[in-house]
Amino acid sequence: MVQIIDGKQLAAARLGALQIEVKTLRDRKIVPTLAVVLVGDDPASAIYVRNKQAACKSIGIETIEARLPATITGPSLLARIDKLNSDDRVHAILVQLPLPNHIDRQGVVAAISPSKDVDGFHPENVGRLTLGLPGTRPCTALAVMALLGAAGVDPAGERAVVIGRGQVVGMPTALSLTHANATVTLVHSRTRELAEIVSESTIVVAAIGKPRYVRGEWIRPGATVIDVGITRLPDGTLAGDVDFAAARERAGAITPVPGGVGPVTIAMLAQNTIALAGRQI
Ligand code: GUN
Repeated sequence: MVQIIDGKQLAAARLGALQIEVKTLRDRKIVPTLAVVLVGDDPASAIYVRNKQAACKSIGIETIEARLPATITGPSLLARIDKLNSDDRVHAILVQLPLPNHIDRQGVVAAISPSKDVDGFHPENVGRLTLGLPGTRPCTALAVMALLGAAGVDPAGERAVVIGRGQVVGMPTALSLTHANATVTLVHSRTRELAEIVSESTIVVAAIGKPRYVRGEWIRPGATVIDVGITRLPDGTLAGDVDFAAARERAGAITPVPGGVGPVTIAMLAQNTIALAGRQI
């Protein structure tokens, strides 16, 4: 029988443990505070930001929201981030992606103080991850590793495929799996032998953003499948990057969409916020 990896349950357990850490910090007069910057009015981003703030608030993390118009200039946005960098109450800063096209995303990410970079997207933190040095790790990569742990999978010595090379998920997850001693293949839209590489892998992480792109018959029997993708289909339902109905027939363990990676990513955001606040001691 395939194991359906319950991300909601894992996230609830993790948030419960984090709530105690928040209390300890608050007893020491430190109120962990996350600033969330949302530019424009992308409806999906608005929902993500709302869910992130709700989870943080539920365990005692303070959140500050800056909603900025899509027409904001690059320099105005950088000035806003600089204010948050120098605000001593703020321990963690999240700029929700994607940003409007006229904004230089790399410039914005690099403007966040590395010591408040809760997403781990700043070049300094990316460099730290690459080198295996301590630093803030991207929340989704942390979630993937936590879900593998919850499924009882140790990546060491396994063949893992990460589908998608984005800065938010694919690249940091491939690096995390490499540091956990998996043999990692990072595939992307230009890869020629996708089906063959997936079928050789005992760990499959899908983060390409195309609904049901990974077909069930590609999955190696018994493999662990972590599906990061979430797309709303025209009929209103949500679909992952993996054809779940077909893949579950072959996988040993698989995350559902929704209720898999998403809730755990949010718990990791809370964890990173608390870790950054804790550095004040
Ligand atoms: N957009 C999609 N995923 C993320 C994320 O993990 N962090 C931020 N800041 N934006 C995102």
